[in-house]
Amino acid sequence: MEKINTNIVTLTRFLTEEQIKHKEATGDFTLLCHALQFSFKSIAYYIRRATLVNLTGLAGSSNTTGDEQKKLDVISNDLFIEAMRSSGKCALLVSEEEENVIYFKDAKSARYAVACDPIDGSSNLDAGVSVGTIFAIHKLADDSTGTHADILKPGTELVAAGFTMYGASAQLVITMKGGSVNGFTLDNGLGEFILTHPDMRLPKKRAIYSVNEGNSLYWEDNVKEYFESLKKAPEGGKPYSARYIGSMVADAYRTLLYGGIFAYPADKKSPKGKLRILYECAPMAMVFENAGGQAVDSNMNRMLEVVPEHIHDKAGIFMGSYDEVEKVKAFHKK
Ligand code: AHG
Ligand code: MN
Ligand code: MN
Ligand code: MN
Repeated sequence: MEKINTNIVTLTRFLTEEQIKHKEATGDFTLLCHALQFSFKSIAYYIRRATLVNLTGLAGSSNTTGDEQKKLDVISNDLFIEAMRSSGKCALLVSEEEENVIYFKDAKSARYAVACDPIDGSSNLDAGVSVGTIFAIHKLADDSTGTHADILKPGTELVAAGFTMYGASAQLVITMKGGSVNGFTLDNGLGEFILTHPDMRLPKKRAIYSVNEGNSLYWEDNVKEYFESLKKAPEGGKPYSARYIGSMVADAYRTLLYGGIFAYPADKKSPKGKLRILYECAPMAMVFENAGGQAVDSNMNRMLEVVPEHIHDKAGIFMGSYDEVEKVKAFHKK
């Protein structure tokens, strides 16, 4: 008889074990994560049913950064907000789909500030292509009851970050300050995220690049030269392969597993880049660094050290395998 694993590490068990390791832990972070995982399960559920229950297409509105909102952007945002509100552990929330910071004034003892991209890759939704949810968690300053300053912080101060990708299965990736990166797969039968990818490590190098090459007309020369160099075969070797899904979470998840480079550079059309620092660049940079990779902005500054001035500020980004990012940096020194 096939041996069944009866010693399953669910996300709930993982979080409890983490809490026990940290003597000073109050259990608040664990409860916040339970609320997060519920939002991922419910978003996954609606994405899977979207075509059947008329949830495809546009909502008829646009958000602060100028994107047209899909119906699922709006629903997922509402699901995420309610999960954070009802946890009682979240003092304030920044979402791609909300112009302003949301303060949960009723959560009197809440010590956390959260940033989220409820659906990343929403242009792919109606085609059933993988999308994701990104989250970043900061702790309030000791004397703070929750202000702008508690979220306008560099990624180096994040206590935890990660994402869930809604693909062939839902994959949740989470990392905590100074910790490793762990991946969980949603078992739809059990309704639980199961630890399937413990201690994820990014391959040191890999000949795969992921970028919207349709923007190359607007790229700066060093960016053009770098990507051109990847298409030249070294002696006896092969040029790089191109892979671009157009959902950053999905492109990043593949890069995390297989290695390579993902980029959305700043360019002449978007001098500040396209991806937003608080809920796209910083949380991904934390995951990549903790898995042994690197992430830098278009000025080759460490992404985690970039401090946004406003909650929806953007940056150019290059992230991936350690050696591949070193190559990007070398082209920017020329
Ligand atoms: P979002 O769907 O949250 O607005 O994010 C879209 C982002 C990101 O997912 C992706 O990497 C990028 O936009 C794709 O942009 P292009 O279509 O310009 O390539
Ligand atoms: Mn958007
Ligand atoms: Mn996004
Ligand atoms: Mn989004």
